[in-house]
Amino acid sequence: MKEELKKEELLKLEHLSIQYKVKGGYLSAVNDVNLSISRGEVFAVVGESGCGKSTVAHSIMNLIPGGNSKVTGKILFNGEDLNACSDKKMESIRGKHIGMIFQNPLDSLNPVYTTGSQVEEAILLDGLNHAQAWEKVLKLYQDVKMPDAGERAKSYPHEMSGGMRQRVMIAMMLSRNPELLIADEPTTALDVTIEAQILEIIKELKNTYNTAIMLITHNFGLVAEVADKIAVMYAGEVIESGDVFEIFEHPTHPYTTLLMQALPRKTKKEGRLQTIDGSVPRILEKKPECRFANRCPYAKEQCFRETPPMVTLSETHTCRCFRAAKKEA
Ligand SMILES: Nc1ncnc2c1ncn2[C@@H]1O[C@H](COP(=O)(O)OP(=O)(O)OP(=O)(O)O)[C@@H](O)[C@H]1O
Ligand code: SF4
Ligand SMILES: [Mg+2]
Repeated sequence: MKEELKKEELLKLEHLSIQYKVKGGYLSAVNDVNLSISRGEVFAVVGESGCGKSTVAHSIMNLIPGGNSKVTGKILFNGEDLNACSDKKMESIRGKHIGMIFQNPLDSLNPVYTTGSQVEEAILLDGLNHAQAWEKVLKLYQDVKMPDAGERAKSYPHEMSGGMRQRVMIAMMLSRNPELLIADEPTTALDVTIEAQILEIIKELKNTYNTAIMLITHNFGLVAEVADKIAVMYAGEVIESGDVFEIFEHPTHPYTTLLMQALPRKTKKEGRLQTIDGSVPRILEKKPECRFANRCPYAKEQCFRETPPMVTLSETHTCRCFRAAKKEA
């Protein structure tokens, strides 16, 4: 059954929780995530390694390995709950309506076919003949600024650099023109110039096709460049979210503030890159405490025994912290 979403709203996650069965119990990889992405919006999901970013992305594509995992809550896409839809239906949505650039493009490209033929395969689904499809492949390779496009279309994945493989994935996405594009760390391992080009392509997608984009990254600097909205994740939870200006001008959760301080500075004088002490905990059993408590400079006794509330700071800005609750009161 379809649910009504707001006019421009395309994806809405409601109370999404994901657990993986591991040695010693169930790992709470994602806990009670609520967020919504509209058409024509770049929504960034930010957080350190292991915070659950890719797990959220994979759940939207229905790619969480079955058997050893539990996915609860709703994944509403165009009003339809993807967490409750059949494999067949999901196959028709994947690629055509929701596209994903995977964190490791080598994993998602087939090593035994040339990259051009893999992009062509996606295009042939549209009923074009071989010559028309190949022409479109070359045009897409040019659109993603692939160096020496004609030759590269005939290269195998292992013959390409990381940046070139990312471009192949983006070309594939462009060919399908999905309503929602999930880009999981699309610029990690790329040099700064290529990163900037890939970001340009993402912006163009949004502006030309009104595509909604979920941009997953651990790089706050990148977010400032392209995002409209941000969700900061920590240990499987969204701990703060809001418009990009709200988050950059009024970061409220201590973790968000620390992440921002860890941003690389442009000049030496401004100081060295700071890191946040400690590491993201693996939550094996749900306890009421704040998941950030063991690293938080402001932690009080209450933080170790109660779950902090999600505080509404504005229509768009929310933060899960007792300090924010105090500020609000
Ligand atoms: N298939 C799986 N089985 C068991 N645990 C898993 C599985 N996939 C991920 N995890 C665990 O779930 C947690 C979240 O992982 P996830 O890959 O979503 O993090 P991430 O935020 O994408 O990290 P990164 O920035 O390193 O890509 C981690 O503790 C990870 O070890
Ligand atoms: S709830 Fe407490 S421990 Fe958690 S972030 Fe806020 S102040 Fe820190
Ligand atoms: Mg990841």
